Amino acid sequence: MSALHHSLLNWFDANQRDLPWRRTKDPYAIWVSEIMLQQTQVATVIPYFERWMRRFPSIEALAQAEEPEILALWQGLGYYRRARQLLAGARSIVETGRTSFLAPQPHQSAIESLLAVPGIGPYTAGAIASIAFNESVPLVDGNVERVYSRLTDDDSERTELKKRAWTWAEANVHPQRPGDWNQALMELGATICKPIDPRCGECPASSFCLAYERGNQNLRPTPIQKVKTISLTHHVWVPVCHGEFGLRQISQNQWWGGMWEFPREPEISVLEAKFPGTWPESAGSFRHSVTNHRIQVHVSLVRLSAFDPELTWVPREAIPQYALPSPQRKAFLLALRVL
Ligand code: ADE
Repeated sequence: MSALHHSLLNWFDANQRDLPWRRTKDPYAIWVSEIMLQQTQVATVIPYFERWMRRFPSIEALAQAEEPEILALWQGLGYYRRARQLLAGARSIVETGRTSFLAPQPHQSAIESLLAVPGIGPYTAGAIASIAFNESVPLVDGNVERVYSRLTDDDSERTELKKRAWTWAEANVHPQRPGDWNQALMELGATICKPIDPRCGECPASSFCLAYERGNQNLRPTPIQKVKTISLTHHVWVPVCHGEFGLRQISQNQWWGGMWEFPREPEISVLEAKFPGTWPESAGSFRHSVTNHRIQVHVSLVRLSAFDPELTWVPREAIPQYALPSPQRKAFLLALRVL
């Protein structure tokens, strides 16, 4: 093995963070953690991971769950498609009796059986196969891509960079300790080889790093053109009637489909038409950012004298059982202040 392998693994052995999913080799637990860690910071993930594993300790337990419960457990993590994919994957594993996911067959590698599970892509399969099954397979996430681009001073972008990072990861995966190697690369990216102002002085790989040698570390990876941000305004009216609150389910073809919301519209006139003769009380506003959207959310409380049959009426203490997107939860808290 190369000096880079030694250096990085020694560093990882001494410095890795103590994380709940690092105390297990259970492929299911690793799967859950890796899905949660996509697009979410470690510190945020920890309590969600622990709650999830208490409620669904096995694939079988998860496969029996209903979507509203998993969405409620996921509430606040965002990118809810991930929760649905976990559920769909668990169901598919249980339905097809493919326990090979948990214990690969003699002539089948873990990576092959993992890739056959809906919702498990090359990154997640690589993570589970290398960490839980010690299979010598690579993985590339944003961290690994960045570490690679600096180590080799590769100035390519987007798909070309991704392709080259996979080729590099494949050629360099550690044959004996693939799981630790892959995690060391990601850990380096998360803690030292950061996107902005990498801490090269503390980096165990700096003497192998071409970008560092050339002073190019802040130029790698090559910055990509920012997607233009889209500014939107949403009006949220929180209806209250005899102490109960009116929710509606978001239709499946919309962002947050399947979750619940207080009536929300880009055009306030739509709400005025829906609740004629009411006097909404302003509860304030806030800004919510998701992907490239900046949404200014204006919140009002509307007191109704009769239940609107188009809404689902829920007492205040039962609201937490409904999966609300986080701006909706924020809107609810604002509305309660003027109640
Ligand atoms: N990011 C996502 N998964 C990770 C892991 N297993 N180790 C370090 N960073 C990660």
